[in-house]
Parts: sequence; C-alpha cells; structure tokens
Amino acid sequence: MNVFVTGGAGYIGSICTEELLNAGHSVTVYDNLTEGHRSAVDPRATFVFAEPEVEGNILNAVRQAKPDAIMHFAASAQVGESMTNPKKYFHNNLVNALKLADAAVECGVKKFVFSSTCATYGPPDRMPMTEDLPQRPISPYGEAKLMFEKVLVWYQQLYQLDFIAFRYFNAAGASETFGEHHRIETHLIPNVLMVALGQKTHCEIFGTDYPTPDGTCIRDYIHIRDLAQAHMLGLQPGKSGFYNLGNGDGYSVRQVIDTCEKITGKKIPTVEKPRRAGDPPRLVASAGKAITELGWKPKFPKLEDIVSTAWAWHVKHPNGYPD
Ligand code: UFG
Repeated sequence: MNVFVTGGAGYIGSICTEELLNAGHSVTVYDNLTEGHRSAVDPRATFVFAEPEVEGNILNAVRQAKPDAIMHFAASAQVGESMTNPKKYFHNNLVNALKLADAAVECGVKKFVFSSTCATYGPPDRMPMTEDLPQRPISPYGEAKLMFEKVLVWYQQLYQLDFIAFRYFNAAGASETFGEHHRIETHLIPNVLMVALGQKTHCEIFGTDYPTPDGTCIRDYIHIRDLAQAHMLGLQPGKSGFYNLGNGDGYSVRQVIDTCEKITGKKIPTVEKPRRAGDPPRLVASAGKAITELGWKPKFPKLEDIVSTAWAWHVKHPNGYPD
C-alpha cells in the first residue's frame, strides 16, 4: 500500500514508518520538524517538509502522494502544556487534523488511521478501561483529540472515509534504529534513563500519596513496535472504529524506576515531589477489542523488554538525534 504518514519524524511516527517499509509498503512522510527530527525519517521514505498552517500545503502533499491510506501522528503531545497553551492544542491537534481529513476525502483516500489517546477518557470509572467508557477529558489535549474522533465518525458515515482511531496508553521502548528523543522530555522512562546515563543527577517522582499500593501513579506501558504492528493491522479494508492499545498491566512509577535500575545496572537517585496537575492515579487498558477484532498480538508485553530496548537505543544515541 501507499501510505502518507504525518509526524513520521517523531517518536511514534518514525517507528511506524520503519515497520511499514519493512512490511513492503511505500511511505511518504509529512513533517514540519518542530517536534520531529530529520534523521528520524527512514531514508527509504519520501520526505515532505511543509508547514500544515499554510493553506493548501496538506492538500497539495496528499494530492501528489496519492496514498491509499493516511496515518496521522503529527500532534502536540504534552498534557501539561495544553493547560497553559490550549490554543496551540486546538489548532495543531484539531484544525490541522481537519485539513488532513478534508484532503483525504478530496483525494479519495480509503483509510485514515489516527493517533488518539487514553486522555480522551479522563479519570475512568472502572479498570481495565474498555472503549465504551464515558469520555470526559480533563485537558485541552484530550479534548482536541476527542473532538477529532467525532469528526472521523461523521466523515465515515457521510463521506465513507473508513477510520481506525487508536487510543494509546503509555508508548515506550525503541526499535534498533529509532527511539524516543523529545526536545523537552517529560516522560518517565526516558527521564529515568537520562539519570542512568549520568545526564541528570536524579529522577523526580510526582506524587507519592496516590491511592495505589506504593503511593505512586500506575500506567500501562506498551512497546512502540507493538503499537506499530497495530497500525498496520488498522489498514485492513472495511474496518472502522476505536481501539485501546495497552498491555493490560499496570506499573507504578516506583516499579518503573526499579526496572530501569535492574536493566541498566545503575542506581537511580529519586526526589519526591508533589503531584503533577492532571495525572490520574491509575490508567490500565483493556485491549481485548484490538486483539479480537484486528488480530493484534503484542510481542513485547513485558516492562523489562520495553525498558531494555529503550536503554539500548539511549546508550547508542546518548544525545538523541543530531538535529
Ligand atoms: N512521572 C514522574 N516523573 C517524571 C515523569 C513522569 O513521576 O519525571 C510520572 C507522571 O507523573 C505519571 C507517570 O510518571 O504519573 C507517567 O508519566 P509520563 O509523562 O511518562 O506519561 P503520562 O501518563 O503522563 O502521559 C501519557 C502520554 C500522553 C498521554 C497520556 C494520557 O505520554 O501523551 O499518557 O494520560 F496523553
């Protein structure tokens, strides 16, 4: 298939691009490199560097690429920042996504695969989280993603644009070539590994008084390559819908730090800090729907494997990508 990947220079988009190419698809990556890195774009892909804000850029790029499917990863992805700069999130994550969906309709694209998030649910009423839970986001990040999910439902009904929206839990890990390098790093695993590399003196633990066994937040970590496999299954014709992607296992912040100590063999000093605004105590997925309906089978569900691949990448690329 010919696939148009926005955000293919970013963490998740770069590894999905790599997996698509390995599976024999051809890929056009569209990215403005604000979050992404030029050297994270697989050299086998065609690269289009363009600002989505400029009228016509997205449509022209889709028209030229003539894709069978679009995978939309390009987004701003810091929940905390969305609380102080909501405009950025509604523009980038909703308005630009809408331009892309319009281009998909205009160019007769058959499938739209969208990076959504468990942040569309807000604090859940029950665990593990299934797709039918009420969606009550508590940040502009989650709200903008939810608004675009609704666009996709209407576009499917009225323009027959099939879509798969994946609601990610905590993506982590690396492939042999591509890994996680954000210019501003807020995520737990890369921050802990920076301590192991000696680039930071300690790791901060945000909140130790949550109603969890060790008082720290629990998350469901999913290997980036498993996430990429799910995206390829999302290309199957004739399917539309929402799917959670996680492993169904929750690990606390302290458990993640312990695992990183074990894998790296380094002591990770920690400093306890107050809770971070907007962090729900526990988020754990039920991915049963992706497993039964799409045939998804995670290959690296263990936290140890997720951390080991991330560690191998960080050791090889201690300063991340050069650009
Ligand atoms: N944490 C720390 N110290 C750190 C970094 C994080 O204690 O240095 C804690 C956080 O407070 C949280 C947990 O580790 O409890 C995981 O935090 P991350 O920032 O790694 O991930 P989040 O769960 O906040 O965010 C992820 C995705 C978002 C997505 C969100 C949905 O990265 O894009 O899940 O809730 F929107």
